[in-house]
Amino acid sequence: KMERTFSIIKPNALLDNNIGNIIKRFEEEGLRIAALKLAHLSKEKAEGFYIEHKDRPFFGELVAFMTSAPVVLMCLEGENAVERNREIMGATNPAEAAENTLRKLYAKSIGENAVHGSDSLASAERELAYFFEKDEICPRF
Ligand code: CMP
Repeated sequence: KMERTFSIIKPNALLDNNIGNIIKRFEEEGLRIAALKLAHLSKEKAEGFYIEHKDRPFFGELVAFMTSAPVVLMCLEGENAVERNREIMGATNPAEAAENTLRKLYAKSIGENAVHGSDSLASAERELAYFFEKDEICPRF
């Protein structure tokens, strides 16, 4: 089934000049870009995005990292986009990520792990609405 999901290219990948490599990989894997913008997140915007993690010990570090440099915010669309994106990213912890996944290739640590992707269709809809106006998404299905 055709789906849309939400993706972030995180500060470490942007600072390492890997935006192009990551987008190229999504396109090669059949995920199309339906929305794309750069943003330097405020503390409030990052805290709101990760609100479900607010009681975790790494929350402060996570928000500090995600606001440390700009990020790329994207809507990806395609067949099974949510699960496809998760396969392409690999495990959250790069030490556990499969060969040739984006996290294996571009993550530095569990925190600086290069990319975020929605974990379900419901999360995707919530996360897309958090960062994009309706008219910023340009669907092709
Ligand atoms: P992400 O998919 O963006 O969603 C939550 C993030 O929390 C996750 O990616 C990780 O980068 C981050 N995270 C998870 N566990 C840890 C940890 N132990 N220390 C720092 N960051 C973490």
